[in-house]
Amino acid sequence: MKAPSALFIYSLLSFLRTSTTLDTITPSQFIRDGETLVSADGSFELGFFSPGSSKSRYVGIWFGVSNDTVVWVANRETPLENLDGLFKVTNKGILVLLDSTNTTIWSSNTSRTAGNNINNPTARLLDSGNLVVKDGNTESPLWQSFDYPSDTLLPEMKIGWDLVSGLDRNLTSWKGTEDPAQSEISEGLDRGGLPQLVDKEGDNIKVRPGSWNGLYFTGMPWLRLNPLFKYEFVMNEKEIYYDYKIPNKSIFVRYVLNPSGIGQGFKWMDHTKSWEPVTTSQSDECANYAHCGAYASCNINKSPVCACLKGFIPKSPIDWNLADWSGGCVRGTPLGCNDGDGFLNYKGVKLPDTSSSWFDRNMSLKECEELCLKNCSCRAYSNLDIRNGGSGCLLWFADLVDLVVLQMDGQDLYIRVAASVLDHIGKNRHFGQKYQVIIIVCSAILLMVMLVLGLVFYVRRMKLRKEGLDIRCQNDYNNEDWKEDMELPIFDLITISNATNNFASSNKLGEGGFGSVYKGTLLGGQEIAVKRLSKNSRQGFNEFKNEVILIAKLQHRNLVKLLGCCIQENEKLLIYEYLHNKSLDSFIFDQTKSRLLDWRMRHNIINGIARGLLYLHEDSRLRIIHRDLKASNILLDNNMTPKISDFGLAKMFGGDQTEADTSRIVGTYGYMPPEYAGYGQVSVKTDVFSFGVLLLEIVCGKKNKEFYNSSQCLNLLGHAWRLWIEDRPTELIDEFLILGDSCILSEVLRCIHVGLLCVQQRPKDRPNMSSMVLMLSSENKLPNPREPGYYTEKALVGKDHSSRKLENPSSSTNEITFTMLEAR
Ligand SMILES: *[C@@H]1O[C@H](CO)[C@@H](O)[C@H](O)[C@H]1NC(C)=O
Ligand SMILES: *[C@@H]1O[C@H](CO)[C@@H](O)[C@H](O)[C@H]1NC(C)=O
Ligand SMILES: *[C@@H]1O[C@H](CO)[C@@H](O)[C@H](O)[C@H]1NC(C)=O
Ligand SMILES: *[C@@H]1O[C@H](CO)[C@@H](O)[C@H](O)[C@H]1NC(C)=O
Ligand SMILES: *[C@@H]1O[C@H](CO)[C@@H](O)[C@H](O)[C@H]1NC(C)=O
Ligand SMILES: *[C@@H]1O[C@H](CO)[C@@H](O)[C@H](O)[C@H]1NC(C)=O
Ligand SMILES: *[C@@H]1O[C@H](CO)[C@@H](O)[C@H](O)[C@H]1NC(C)=O
Repeated sequence: MKAPSALFIYSLLSFLRTSTTLDTITPSQFIRDGETLVSADGSFELGFFSPGSSKSRYVGIWFGVSNDTVVWVANRETPLENLDGLFKVTNKGILVLLDSTNTTIWSSNTSRTAGNNINNPTARLLDSGNLVVKDGNTESPLWQSFDYPSDTLLPEMKIGWDLVSGLDRNLTSWKGTEDPAQSEISEGLDRGGLPQLVDKEGDNIKVRPGSWNGLYFTGMPWLRLNPLFKYEFVMNEKEIYYDYKIPNKSIFVRYVLNPSGIGQGFKWMDHTKSWEPVTTSQSDECANYAHCGAYASCNINKSPVCACLKGFIPKSPIDWNLADWSGGCVRGTPLGCNDGDGFLNYKGVKLPDTSSSWFDRNMSLKECEELCLKNCSCRAYSNLDIRNGGSGCLLWFADLVDLVVLQMDGQDLYIRVAASVLDHIGKNRHFGQKYQVIIIVCSAILLMVMLVLGLVFYVRRMKLRKEGLDIRCQNDYNNEDWKEDMELPIFDLITISNATNNFASSNKLGEGGFGSVYKGTLLGGQEIAVKRLSKNSRQGFNEFKNEVILIAKLQHRNLVKLLGCCIQENEKLLIYEYLHNKSLDSFIFDQTKSRLLDWRMRHNIINGIARGLLYLHEDSRLRIIHRDLKASNILLDNNMTPKISDFGLAKMFGGDQTEADTSRIVGTYGYMPPEYAGYGQVSVKTDVFSFGVLLLEIVCGKKNKEFYNSSQCLNLLGHAWRLWIEDRPTELIDEFLILGDSCILSEVLRCIHVGLLCVQQRPKDRPNMSSMVLMLSSENKLPNPREPGYYTEKALVGKDHSSRKLENPSSSTNEITFTMLEAR
């Protein structure tokens, strides 16, 4: 008796389901305004919509979880002005959008669909967000929306060329947030020479992520480090395209090219019901296509950013000196052609424009060099693919443009110059065949001599030594090539000891949580800062060395540069660049020096710190949480560029702590968020809180910890919060700033607003660094902040009697932490 009724209910349910949520239509069905097609698992929905406050109706596909996030639009150029639209698939397998007079407003009629012999066509919305028209005759789709992208790239969607059908798929942004029509801005693959990814406005290239090197687009090395987006590039006789995949299908992501031409990836956050930015595109000067013209390199860490390549001179020196780089550079010495040219090796670069390049997958680098030397018009060569030590050959036959020195990774490029240039520079690594024999003979003799000398020296040293030490340190700082070799130099203890006058207390710059810092001067005159680590790290020598080498690879203009290390005789020393302007706290908390920092500078400093942190949190390969961000850990260079110091130390000392609870708390009162100081919970939001405190300190010129409003028992955060809710935030601003010329009130207020968002009580309310960088630079409306964490002793006691007394305004001058002393 039970079976039939269950069957009945089941068929009733399935009838109900199919009648309410279809994922497929046939020629006998259609979709009216108000009805939708829903993919089988509900991920995507197709129907009629109006963007924003517009009244025009469009047919589009959007996310099931977020119905105002449209990923594809059918009638981009031809909106309907009423609700009488009708969307269907014809007997010929063509999708059409009809208006009230049955006139076709939009159709999917293309040369591919037209004229086929069609049998029972259907249109189905797949769980990938792809709308696919198929018929009974063929397996491959007659038409699919993935072949006609709008502004959004979804996982598995291809950008590039189908060489069989001639289809070129590229992204084009909307004209505006309420107008899906195609704008001039597009992103796609350029097919000339070696295919490369470009962003264009009309026919002009604006940004060139560049050619694919097996791992990433040459200008975007950080791509491969993103754990969410797995990019893939395919090039064969049938197609040339790239796409990305998502390791976990239950995560929704999208990459969208917005109307201002910026491409950004987003991930859906289920708990906040919002899209969180997950990739940030490089947007500094060097990202502008051909910013420095031909035969010049762009390096954002140099000032000026543009420099002619070695052996080249500015085409128009006058313009060049006026910072108009567009003319580029020309060869200083003509090529000898078949008469002994050579190559200069540039490391860590984004390869130049490959639109006139020639390539071969099977050649070795050596064959590549020979081929380039043979042809007078060949300007440079490199490996085509950098995987497994490099393979293939890529040659340039046109002027080299858009060469950028990258801040991480990057590739090797060999640029052809006359032999005399090589002699002049004295770094002749790659010569014409004519010189090779001489070089080989000379270096063989030299090598023999060195071997003998080395042996003698080694034997003597062994004799002198009392007991052997397992790590041999080389003092090779004076070798100027260390930077290009990308290996972390290991300094000799003697060298460092001499440089710092045997760690004399007069050379001591400060005392930090991880040890003392000394100023030193190397023999060559180079100034360094030496951090002598306290001995309580649990790590062994090799572990420590590996960690240091990794951290040395983190390079960003807003991080202090690690020059090398020394691990010897129980000493662990880190050698950093020395920054003349010392730390931020010596400026902002000093009555007189604070006047040197006007608003423009402070704003730059805030943005710089934010970018440095973003790099540590999201863009670097290590994902570092700093945990002790504070004004004294921000150093300033000659241009007042802020550089975060001590990053990675928390990681080295803590090892096993990432997002978990930690028993060992490093940090400083006044900068630690409640969940960390109280319960040891660490996350990126720990740094966000500290950043917020720092931001407010920079704006008002006072220390959070030392500020104390005795009438209301408020610290700086509490004071800021009170002024904010009483709508008088301007009273927070350093008086000196208000008087200065450069103060832009709206910017200052925005910073206060962002600062308050960062110091909110609950970690999940605080924005992450990528949204923060956007918040600081855009004009978008910001959410209202909630009450900050730790803003008043009274409030804490009132709410929770068991709270620890963390706010102690009259504490001694040293900022004592649970385990460590604070620097300076
Ligand atoms: C989108 O979803 C919201 C809430 O889930 C609902 O109120 C709204 O009507 C939906 N809009 C459309 C166009 O489906
Ligand atoms: C449009 O076509 C439908 C069926 O195809 C028909 O019922 C309807 O009368 C037509 N409307 C007009 C205005 O021609
Ligand atoms: C599709 O296009 C072809 C030629 O481009 C045309 O002959 C045919 O009538 C069109 N079909 C529809 C349904 O518009
Ligand atoms: C994208 O396609 C349009 C039209 O086919 C073309 O004009 C534009 O140059 C393409 N953009 C890129 C970046 O390839
Ligand atoms: C995929 O993501 C969901 C939601 O974030 C998570 O619950 C699930 O465990 C993940 N699955 C895998 C295999 O990682
Ligand atoms: C290049 O190498 C691949 C495999 O390594 C081989 O299949 C192909 O035929 C080679 N091409 C040429 C032109 O030698
Ligand atoms: C050099 O290369 C260019 C471009 O590939 C080609 O047109 C020219 O014929 C080559 N010259 C010689 C001598 O091989």
